[in-house]
Amino acid sequence: MTTPSPVRPSGLRSVALGTPDVAAAEAFYTATWALAPVARQDGAVYLRGSGSPHHLLSLHPRPAAELLDVCFNAASRADVDALAAAVRKAGAGPVGEAGAAKDPAGGYGFSFRDPEGRHFTIVAGDATHADASEKADVPDHLSHVVLCSADVPKSTAFFTDVLGFRVSDRTKMMNFVRCNSDHHQIALAYAEASSLNHIAFYMPDLESVMRGAGRVKDAGYPIEWGVGRHGPGNNVFAYFIGPDEVVIEYTSEVEKVDDSYVVRGPEEWKWPPGRTDHWGISAPPSLRLQAAQKKIRFAIDIAPGEQTPR
Ligand SMILES: [Fe+2]
Repeated sequence: MTTPSPVRPSGLRSVALGTPDVAAAEAFYTATWALAPVARQDGAVYLRGSGSPHHLLSLHPRPAAELLDVCFNAASRADVDALAAAVRKAGAGPVGEAGAAKDPAGGYGFSFRDPEGRHFTIVAGDATHADASEKADVPDHLSHVVLCSADVPKSTAFFTDVLGFRVSDRTKMMNFVRCNSDHHQIALAYAEASSLNHIAFYMPDLESVMRGAGRVKDAGYPIEWGVGRHGPGNNVFAYFIGPDEVVIEYTSEVEKVDDSYVVRGPEEWKWPPGRTDHWGISAPPSLRLQAAQKKIRFAIDIAPGEQTPR
């Protein structure tokens, strides 16, 4: 065990996806998922929500669907430098030099690969939107990303010991970790291989999760799990399979926690037979959803020094 990092990211900003059909994916994420284009660069489109982050999702032309990068914010350039030093000291994988970010959000950051080869960026001072304002039925910001992991204990230790995250809860399915007062920004799910389990977009309220889910369903994308309320995090959810079989979630009402929060384990997070959430209205996750959660892998051909995946 290393000494816990004295700094941690301040939050989750965005996810970069590769797709063989940027136009089709953009059409879905704007007309149906209710994001809005904010920038274009090198064939990629950057999509914002109603909140302040410059973008929540970017779609990049690639031969196949891939997860390119998960980006966190840091509070300052000094925190970026401290986190870069911590990652470099851990020696887990390649680490790029900190410097000017190359994507349209700008700022100062660095990229690296974690022990499972996943590509992350941490950036400070990137552009934000002055007109941020919650809008009904529109995603505001990213809530969390769940990553299927071939070695959950090792990956969890990397997030806690190197990046300064705290463990919020552990179930038989996954470990939940946080870098701010929301219950989790990342969860690491037990799996045979590393993949993108899902991306969760934060809606302003339960009503927006319900109305947004109805909008997506009307567009021909059935609800694959939900609407329900999770155990850890206590958030409401509706899961869909979007373009390229990327699993996406509308969520809201994520529990706020602080240092007094008591971590519970798999023995305490148990449902009665037949239940997969607090409400018990939804069927369990569809088999199609469970298969899609294993399909999207991290691209392996992007150097950490290249802060914006091309
Ligand atoms: Fe989720």
